Amino acid sequence: METNIKWAELGFGYVKTDYNIRSEFRDGRWSEPEVHDSEYIPMHMAATCLHYGQEAFEGLKAFRGKDGRVRIFRMVENARRMIRSAEYTQMVAPDEELFCRACVEAVRRNERFVPPYGTGASLYIRPTLVGTSAQVGVKPATEFLFVVFVSPVGPYFKEGFRPISVIIERHHDRAAPLGTGKVKVGGNYAASLISGEQAKAAGYSNVLYLDAKEKRYIDECGAANFFAIRDGAYITPKSSSILPSITNMTLRELAADFGLRVEEREVEFSEMSSFEEAGTCGTAAVVSPIGKVFDPDEGRTYVVGDGESAGPWTVRLYDALRAIQFGDAPDPRGWNTVLFNEE
Ligand SMILES: Cc1ncc(COP(=O)(O)O)c(C=O)c1O
Repeated sequence: METNIKWAELGFGYVKTDYNIRSEFRDGRWSEPEVHDSEYIPMHMAATCLHYGQEAFEGLKAFRGKDGRVRIFRMVENARRMIRSAEYTQMVAPDEELFCRACVEAVRRNERFVPPYGTGASLYIRPTLVGTSAQVGVKPATEFLFVVFVSPVGPYFKEGFRPISVIIERHHDRAAPLGTGKVKVGGNYAASLISGEQAKAAGYSNVLYLDAKEKRYIDECGAANFFAIRDGAYITPKSSSILPSITNMTLRELAADFGLRVEEREVEFSEMSSFEEAGTCGTAAVVSPIGKVFDPDEGRTYVVGDGESAGPWTVRLYDALRAIQFGDAPDPRGWNTVLFNEE
């Protein structure tokens, strides 16, 4: 059955689809994934996810190719990251096999919501893991729920692939150096909402976080990693409080393929004025050039490149990534899981 979604007009938001996939961890084992059509989760009011933030999630995408097939990008990396998030928050994670099976099933069951090739839109997949058993003391749950739902999405930024303006944040931290920043848990996002909303109210697309301890190094950019280009190098922050982005991991490999030197290291904010190009990268953000960085404490705006258009390496990286994701270019590293391949 067709949908009446206007694919080209989709933003990045929740759209109801037909099914979600659920598995429960109880008595030491995960149940077989089940297909549900309700958008709601019945839950005990003392569930640990509600009180102690015992929650982790993932975000990945499926893309429809010219050949009509659907490709899920680097799914196993998301499974691995969820395992790390669960370890930090003392949850039992689905193993790679269960994680991937549930994601594939969620895409298959909602195939009519995978946007057509050429619209630029894709199907966002949101695996979520929560502690469900009742606790009043601060202790981990013994029972967990793993849910995978999907939603068709368009661009994350209203600018699309146009340079965004970001604002430096020195007054709130999203994560501590030895804290949860490197895992994908709900608390990090709760802690970031105030910065994000203040940035938006001030007219900026995103927040550029500096390191929590010294406010000297670039950490990450909202829910996306930061990268810059200078003197033939792809430069990206190494920090214990940023989420290791699978998109960034991919761009580092593509950049090396292009002959760029890859530098993953502490990046001083003072380097900003020397960057030829800068951008953010993530599943939602894809690759978004950064045109302007406003530092409210210094009252200074850094313009990157001409501030108005994406730089050549950013364009090349974006194009290469999209071509692999949509199946327009070969996928020599086997990043895509191809569905509907059998006909
Ligand atoms: C805080 C944060 N940083 C970076 C990213 C980008 O990671 P990925 O490329 O794996 O989507 C995300 C999105 O998942 C994020 O939420």
